[in-house]
Amino acid sequence: MTPSAAGPRRFAQITGVGSALPERVVPNAYFERLVDTSDEWIQDRTGIKSRRFASEGETTSTLAADAGGRALESAGVDPGSVDLLIVATCTPDRPLPAAAAYVQRLLGMTCPAFALNAACAGFIYGVSTGSSFIQSGNAERVLVVGSEVLSRVVNMTDRTTCVLFGDGAGAVVLQPSDEPGVLDSILALDGTQSELLTIPAGGVEEPANAESVASHRHEIHMSSGSSVFKRAVVGMAEACASLLEKAGLSVEDVDVVIPHQANARIIAAVRERLHIPPERVFVDMEEVGNTSAASIPIAMDRAWRDGRLRPGDLVLTTAFGAGLAWGSNLLRWTAPSPEGRAGDA
Ligand code: ACO
Repeated sequence: MTPSAAGPRRFAQITGVGSALPERVVPNAYFERLVDTSDEWIQDRTGIKSRRFASEGETTSTLAADAGGRALESAGVDPGSVDLLIVATCTPDRPLPAAAAYVQRLLGMTCPAFALNAACAGFIYGVSTGSSFIQSGNAERVLVVGSEVLSRVVNMTDRTTCVLFGDGAGAVVLQPSDEPGVLDSILALDGTQSELLTIPAGGVEEPANAESVASHRHEIHMSSGSSVFKRAVVGMAEACASLLEKAGLSVEDVDVVIPHQANARIIAAVRERLHIPPERVFVDMEEVGNTSAASIPIAMDRAWRDGRLRPGDLVLTTAFGAGLAWGSNLLRWTAPSPEGRAGDA
């Protein structure tokens, strides 16, 4: 990743962060009424105690606009001055147009905007893409949002998936600097394993029909949770190790790891592979669940507001999900102190 023009190097920095969670809290006990499961099993196998579900009228775009607005406010950037909006999501309001169109409208922006779908790795892909636009001089202010309403695409009769997911959104603002903020990224995808995690119907291969709806084929299917688990551990650990090696750094240099918040046991296994002590890994799924593309920016915002992220920290983020897609971003934390901000999730 090199800037296109000669002269001083130009990097992207994170100058603002924000998140938005729906108000409705759904504890594990909710699923005991729907499927054969228990609060104890869910907590033990995932680390999740509760998650938020969107209420009527709340969508991926409304949550994205709330999170994006807060990130812009924290950066002191006017929505009208943003020149690129990227919305990472696998649960758009509608198949057409892209979720980015609604978010742009809700925030009163006029800039080009697009959505990208790399499932749970979407925010990693979004930050890498936004950073490239800044580095090349093609954008000055980029808003990258990860937003999902997974509660509307899970099969509430399937205990292997319905307990895992939550709804929410998180966002960052990227702006140019001569000091590195987004240092580098690794992006990966293995399409040969795409059947492991999919929504089979509702696209053009199998348009939604009465039979597909009755058989829940328009909802998330995970054919083997344990295979996804193992692939996630290996993928995230390897992406982190490769990225650090590429940057000439080691795990000792990393102040905070913010991994995708899918499962506390996945995070523990990644941590052990990387030999990183627990106090340097931010774990936040207990009251949020797996929010796919939103999980890292939500965790980032919460870590920042809790004082776990300080200016100058070296931050490693990593995610893994459907595709199978995964990746990692290496960041120098540059957003100013959260003091004085109000109204966050
Ligand atoms: N309640 C009770 N029992 C359950 C539940 C549940 N909610 N879900 C599965 N089980 C049962 C299974 O049916 C199985 O029963 P059996 O032995 O009678 O067949 C048993 O528990 C063990 O199943 P495993 O799948 O081996 O359980 P595991 O310990 O692997 O935990 C889990 C399952 C939590 C899904 C884990 O595999 C996981 O987290 N995988 C990653 C999946 C994921 O995160 N997907 C989201 C998108 S990808 C990503 O974000 C990384």
